[in-house]
Amino acid sequence: MSTHAPMPAPIVPAPAFELPSGYPGHDDAAYLTHRAVIAEAAHGHLPGAEPPHIAYTPQDHACWNQITHALAPLWRKYATAEVREAMEGLALPTDRVPQLAESSRRLRELTGFSFAPAAGIVPLQDFYGTLADSVFQSTQFIRHYASPLFSPEPDMVHEVLGHGATLASPRFADLYRQFGAAARRAETRESLKAVSRVFWFTLEYGLLGDPGSPMAYGASLLSSYGELQQFRQAYICPLDVRRMVTVPYDVTEYQSVLFAAYAFEELEDFVGAFCAGVDGDTGDRLGVTADQRW
Ligand SMILES: [Fe+2]
Repeated sequence: MSTHAPMPAPIVPAPAFELPSGYPGHDDAAYLTHRAVIAEAAHGHLPGAEPPHIAYTPQDHACWNQITHALAPLWRKYATAEVREAMEGLALPTDRVPQLAESSRRLRELTGFSFAPAAGIVPLQDFYGTLADSVFQSTQFIRHYASPLFSPEPDMVHEVLGHGATLASPRFADLYRQFGAAARRAETRESLKAVSRVFWFTLEYGLLGDPGSPMAYGASLLSSYGELQQFRQAYICPLDVRRMVTVPYDVTEYQSVLFAAYAFEELEDFVGAFCAGVDGDTGDRLGVTADQRW
């Protein structure tokens, strides 16, 4: 029998995590600690390993349930057929937050893509570059439960639901890989900005179909409860690289200018031609300036 008194459990300080003032959950200590734990798990992740298991809270699950059920009728009305078919294949749960590992396994079976956990904002070159390797870097947190229909940050709703819808389609997945390969050849900040802008107006905000009543395939639209109901009020243009890289842009507002392809083949030809031509001079050729926002 030991004569030693039991040692008290070491006090492990909660990792620090902050959100900007005004962000939902910025003053919720339990949520911030939860976010810190999730970010820490991503920091410890090794490339190629399965994403870590996250202990989602009942509030997380309720939040996912609410946003997926709110988006479902909007997707039936506004999402392209390719997206809706791909989502059926991905078969995400609606009543609970999916683990990134299970979504990643299913995605790999469908298109060869997988999800890797990201602790926070990933530098553009790194984010796009890994797309060439069929890896999509995704956050693992979900927005605060007090704001289920809006998040100022790209959370799992944006990444797994929004991007997952196109990553689960072989034809869209190939476009992601082409952007990845283009980013690796971009060499200069200006050329990378051009890649980022064309990605933005296609795989984030792209439309397909008749410009009078186009359907959405871009992840940012698909994951936005508000903007998915209003995107047809934007000024809708045909695909145009020069316009995409120079059009004024405000991240805090709904997009005022969007780009639609009549058909999937047109989108594939457009992205294929742009990405194949990207090199270190692309930014200069298109008039991208060093002080232009991404
Ligand atoms: Fe995105």
